[in-house]
Amino acid sequence: MPEFGEPAPLATTGPARIIALCNQKGGVGKTTTTINLGAALAAYGRKVLVVDFDPQGAASVGLGVNPHELDRTVYNLVMERNASLAEIARPTGVPGLDLVPANIDLSAAEVQLVGEVARESVLSRALREAEDSYDVILIDCQPSLGLLTVNALTAAHGVLIPLECEFFALRGVALLIETVEKVRDRLNPRLQIDGILATMHDSRTLHSREVLARVHEAFGDQLLHTVIGRTVKFPDASVAAEPITSYAPTHAGALAYLQLARELVARGDAA
Ligand SMILES: Nc1ncnc2c1ncn2[C@@H]1O[C@H](COP(=O)(O)OP(=O)(O)O)[C@@H](O)[C@H]1O
Ligand SMILES: [Mg+2]
Repeated sequence: MPEFGEPAPLATTGPARIIALCNQKGGVGKTTTTINLGAALAAYGRKVLVVDFDPQGAASVGLGVNPHELDRTVYNLVMERNASLAEIARPTGVPGLDLVPANIDLSAAEVQLVGEVARESVLSRALREAEDSYDVILIDCQPSLGLLTVNALTAAHGVLIPLECEFFALRGVALLIETVEKVRDRLNPRLQIDGILATMHDSRTLHSREVLARVHEAFGDQLLHTVIGRTVKFPDASVAAEPITSYAPTHAGALAYLQLARELVARGDAA
C-alpha cells in the first residue's frame, strides 16, 4: 500500500472539482462516503460543498439537518431559474463543510424535469455559481440511474463508485459504467471515472478478500488503494448525525476516510 502524504495547503479557493458518488444499488456506502470524505477533505483545509441529491435526504440527516423542517432545498435550486445556491447552502457542524440539503420534495423534480429544455443539465447550471467558493463539491446520488443521477453525472468532473465487498457487488457496475460513457459522449465530455472504492470490507472473511481480488481483476488501477472496513461505528456516527472523523476521530474508519481524501488529492481527483 503506497503512503499518501498530507495534502499541501491551498492558497486560494476553487475552481471546484465536482465528484458524483454513484451506484444504482442502495446501501453500498454512497452517503457514508459523501459525508466522511467531505469531512476528511475539510479537515485538510479544503472548502467542501455536499449536495444531497437523494430525496431520502440521508446525507442531510447525517450532517445534522432535519429535512422535514426545510423550506428551501436542492429542489428549489434545480427547479427555480433564479434560485441562489448561496442562499440554499448552509454551514454544518463540520468547519469548512457546507450542505445543500434535500428532502422528499426532490422526488417531484424528477417528474417535473421531464418536460424541461436541457433537463439533464439543470444541476450543472445551478452549481456554476459555486465554482469559485469551493475546492470540492460532492454529489450524493440516489440509488437509480434516472434523470437525477444523469444530472449529477452531467455536472461532475469525476465519478466515485462505492462498491460493497459482497458477492453480487459487481452486478450492475457494467450498466453504471455504460451510463457514465453515454453521458460522457452526449452531455459531458470531461466526465471521468475517478475510482472504485471498496466499502464494508471484512478482512477476517475469505469472502470479502475474494470479492476484493475479483474487483481488482476486473478494474485494475481504477480500484482505489484505500479500502473502507465494515464497522458499526458508521451507523453509530449517522445516528449521532456526525461524520466519523469527529464522532470517533481515532477509529480505523475515520483514518480510512482521511486516507481516501489523501489518495484522491494525490491522484489529482480532488484539489
Ligand atoms: N463501512 C461500513 N461499515 C458498516 N456499515 C456501513 C459502512 N458504510 C456504510 N454503512 C452503513 O450501511 C448503511 C448504508 O450505507 P449508505 O452510506 O447509506 O449507503 P447508500 O447511500 O449507498 O445507500 C447505513 O446504515 C450505513 O451506516
Ligand atoms: Mg444514500
